[in-house]
Amino acid sequence: MRQPLIAGNWKMNGTRSSAEALIKGVLEGAEKLGKAEIAICPPFPFLEAGERLVANSSVRLGGQNVCTEASGAYTGEVSAAMLAEFGCSYVICGHSERREYYGETDAIVAKKLAIVVENGMKPILCVGETLDQREQGKTQEVIAQQIDAVIAQNGIASFAELEIAYEPIWAIGTGKTATPEQAQEVHDFIRQRIAGQDQAIGAKVRILYGGSMKPGNASDLLSQPDIDGGLIGGAALAAEDFLAICRAGE
Ligand code: G3P
Repeated sequence: MRQPLIAGNWKMNGTRSSAEALIKGVLEGAEKLGKAEIAICPPFPFLEAGERLVANSSVRLGGQNVCTEASGAYTGEVSAAMLAEFGCSYVICGHSERREYYGETDAIVAKKLAIVVENGMKPILCVGETLDQREQGKTQEVIAQQIDAVIAQNGIASFAELEIAYEPIWAIGTGKTATPEQAQEVHDFIRQRIAGQDQAIGAKVRILYGGSMKPGNASDLLSQPDIDGGLIGGAALAAEDFLAICRAGE
């Protein structure tokens, strides 16, 4: 069976001291958990503290973004090799905030996925529809396009090396969560889309849910058959809430 993965995406929040306190808080509670895999994705400047603090624990570290290129004159970018050197196991790729505010296309996202894998880490590929697209009945069309673009560029085999996060854009930071049924429907659609190309990869790929997942709704979402974990934003900024979600994933 697929081991649940609960990953915290801290986005652009915190200070050096609050980040260290949050990491320590997560570590304390994480020791008591067994089944779920736990990851935290702090902002880049806090990765060094993250690496130091999570060493010798089961908590994994992740980056929130990565450059498409290996090295060179790309002012302001961070390479996959740098993330790997600072102990990252995961890298979030194609988050809707990156797609929307920084113009990341499906082609750019596919390049990021590839360079993350080349550097020995696992990408978390984010997909999701806007409220408008959902209301127009285009959810499956949008998700299919985002998944198919990666299949076309990187091949179906690339899905054996990544995690997927379904994040309906209308549920991110809004307090509006997809119902467990709505989320399950899309997760099943994603799995079938991949299984249609490769049955074994479809059965194995982990599909996380992201979008206002909180302690109060986590167990209903995580008990759905195709929801294999969560990518948590706001609720990952308080150790207590994040750990409560991790427990719900156990
Ligand atoms: O990547 C996590 C995410 O976008 C969900 O954020 O604050 O709705 O949990 P939030």
